[in-house]
Amino acid sequence: MASYEEDYERSLQDPEAFWAAAAQEISWSKPWDRVLNADNPPFYRWFEGAEMNTCYNCLDRHVEDGRGDQDALIYDSPMTGQVKKYTYRELTDTVAQFAGALAGLGITKGDRVLIYMPMVPETAIAMLACARIGAIHSVVFGGFAPKELATRIDDAKPVAIIAASCGLEPNRTIAYKPLIDEAIEMSTHKPANCIVLQRPECEADLIAGRDHDWRALEADAEPTPCVPVAATDPLYILYTSGTTGVPKGVVRDNGGHAVALRWSMKYVYDIDPGEVFWAASDVGWVVGHSYIVYAPLLHGCTTILFEGKPVGTPDAGTFWRVIQDHKVKALFTAPTAFRAIRQQDPEGKLIPNYDLSNFVTLFLAGERADPDTISWAQDQLKVPVIDHWWQTETGWAIGANCMGYGMKPVKLGSPTYPVPGYDIRIIKEEDGKTEMKRGEIGVIAVKLPLPPGSLPTLWQNDEGFVRAYMADIPGYYKTGDAGYVDEDGYLFIMARTDDIINVAGHRLSTGGMEEVLAGHRDVAECAVMGVQDGLKGQIPLGFVVLNAGVNRADDDIQKELVALVREKIGPVAAFKLALVVKRLPKTRSGKILRGVMRKIADGEEYKAPATIDDPEVLTEITEALSKAGYPAGS
Ligand code: COA
Ligand code: AMP
Repeated sequence: MASYEEDYERSLQDPEAFWAAAAQEISWSKPWDRVLNADNPPFYRWFEGAEMNTCYNCLDRHVEDGRGDQDALIYDSPMTGQVKKYTYRELTDTVAQFAGALAGLGITKGDRVLIYMPMVPETAIAMLACARIGAIHSVVFGGFAPKELATRIDDAKPVAIIAASCGLEPNRTIAYKPLIDEAIEMSTHKPANCIVLQRPECEADLIAGRDHDWRALEADAEPTPCVPVAATDPLYILYTSGTTGVPKGVVRDNGGHAVALRWSMKYVYDIDPGEVFWAASDVGWVVGHSYIVYAPLLHGCTTILFEGKPVGTPDAGTFWRVIQDHKVKALFTAPTAFRAIRQQDPEGKLIPNYDLSNFVTLFLAGERADPDTISWAQDQLKVPVIDHWWQTETGWAIGANCMGYGMKPVKLGSPTYPVPGYDIRIIKEEDGKTEMKRGEIGVIAVKLPLPPGSLPTLWQNDEGFVRAYMADIPGYYKTGDAGYVDEDGYLFIMARTDDIINVAGHRLSTGGMEEVLAGHRDVAECAVMGVQDGLKGQIPLGFVVLNAGVNRADDDIQKELVALVREKIGPVAAFKLALVVKRLPKTRSGKILRGVMRKIADGEEYKAPATIDDPEVLTEITEALSKAGYPAGS
C-alpha cells in the first residue's frame, strides 16, 4: 500500500488518476466521459457524464454482494429506551417502500424535499428515499426556529416537507408540527405536501389535503427501484451559517460525494466494510449527513444513530455503553461532548464498567479540540484521539491524521496533515496572494480544484459561491479559517476570519444574531461575539446600546433580547446574555471593535488600536463585563 506521503503527492500531481482509482469502489450505471471538467473555473465537475445512484451504492449493492443480513443501521435511543436494528436487506426494503410513497405523491428527480426530523431512523430512511428517486433533500436541524425554516423553504422551494411530530430533549418534548405550520405560514413558497411521522410522545394534528401520515402513506405505496442520476446532479442541499443572517445552501453532488466518502472511510478512519462506526452528532449537521448516513453505508459498515446526549441520558457513561453494546470500532464526535462527560465524571469512574475492547479510535472535529480535552480522553480511554478539521462546505476532512496509512505522531492542538486531494496554502490576509512562511499565521486556502465531494456551488447561487469562497484569493478556495503550518508540516487551525462561531460544535453566525437584536424596537446599536466557554467552547455574548429616551429596566430588555434570538434563530443559538451599555467602542471611522471586546471578555491582553475614537468606552465595557462575571473565573 502507498504511504500517506506518496498518495498525497499523487493526489495533487494527478488528481484525475487518483480519484478515478478511488471511483472503482463505487458502482456506476454509466461510466464518466471525463474524470474532471475544469474548463470553467472556479466551477469544477467531477465524473462528468457518469450515472449512478447514491442509495443503490449505500444499500442495494451490499445486499447483492451478500451483506443482506448484516446490520446496516442501529438506532439506539436512551431518550425512549429503544434499540432497533435494520439489516441491509431490511433497510433497503424500507427505503424502497418509502421512496415509493414519495413517488406516489408525484415527487420526482430534481424536486427538493425538506426534512425536519430528530434522531430517529426514519430521518436516514427519508434521506436515502430521496436519493433513491433522485430528489434533492435538505435536512434542517431540529434546534432551528420557524423563521430559519421559512428562510430555507423559500430558498430551496421544496415540493414536500418530511417531519416528525416531535423531537425529544432531556428536559422537554418539542412539538415539531406547530413549528412547521408556522414556518409554512411565514414562507412565500408553499410546499404541496407534508409527511408526518407520528411519534407516541406527542402526536400532531394533520391538515387535510396537505398533510399525510407517514405510516399510512407507506402502507399504500409500492416499493420503487433506484433511479440513475448524473454524477453531477445534486444529492442534497445543506444550509449553513454564512456571514449574514441568510444561510448558504451548500450543494453536494452524487458521484464525487460517493467516491470521496467511501475513500475516507478506509484512509481517514481506517474502517473496513462490516465494522461498526458511530458518529455521535445529529443528522441535521454535515457530520451527520456524511458519517451517520452516507459514508458508513457506502462502505458496507454498520452505523449507529444515537438519540441522546453524552450526559444526562442517563449519565456520563452512555457513550461507553453504546460502544460496548454495539461493538463500536471508531467514535466520531465533537470535543464539547467530551468536555461535558469530563465535567460530570472527571476521573472517568464510569469507564471501567464497560467493555471497550472493540474500540480502536476516537475522532474529534467540528470545533477546535483543546489539548486538555484530548489529553483527558487519551488518558481515560487509552486509544488514539484524532483531531481532524473540516467544514460543511467540504463535506469531509481537509486536515487529518489519516489513520488508514498508519498513524502519524499526534501534536496536541493540530489536526496533523492535509488530507490527500487538498492542496493547502497559508496566504497573507492583507494582499490575498503571498504565501506565508512555516509558522506564520495567515488565511487558510485550498488551491483549486477541490477534491470530489466538496461543494460544486451554492444552491442556485453561483455568484454567491464565487463571492463567498473564490473571489478573494483567485485560484483558491478560501476556507474562512486562519492558521499556520509548522516546521514539520503540521496544520494548526486557530480562528475564523469571519463572524462564525462554534457553540457546542454548532456553527452559528454572530452577524445573524446582531440582525435579530437590531430588530428590537429599543435597540440602537449592537454587537455580538463568541466568548470562551468551558463546556461549549464558545458562546455568544451580546452588547446593546438603547435608543435615546428608552427608560425601561435593562433587565426586562435583556430578557426580551434573549427570548427574541431564541424565537428567531432557535434554542441552538444558546444566546443567554445581552449587556446593555451606553456606547460601543469604535474606531474613528465607526468600525465596532468586536475583537477588543472579545479579548476583554476572555481576559486576554489587548491593545486598543491607535484609531480608537474614545478609549474611555473600553473602561465602560470592562466594567459591564465585570458585573456580568467576565472574564470567567476572574
Ligand atoms: N431540537 C431542538 N432543540 C435542540 C436540539 C434539537 N435537535 N438540539 C439542541 N437543542 C436545544 C437544547 O435543548 C438547548 O435548549 P435549552 O436552551 O432549552 O437548554 C439548546 O438547544 C442548546 O443546545 P446545546 O448547545 O446542544 O446545549 P445542551 O446544554 O443541550 O447540551 C452538550 C450540551 C455538550 C451536551 C451538547 O451540545 C452535545 O451533546 N454536543 C455534542 C456535539 C455535537 O453533537 N455536535 C454537533 C456537530 S459534530
Ligand atoms: P461546520 O461547517 O459546522 O462543520 O464548521 C466548520 C468550522 O468549524 C471550520 O471552518 C472551523 O472553524 C471549525 N472546525 C471544524 N473542525 C475543526 C477542528 N478540528 N479544529 C478547529 N476548528 C475546527
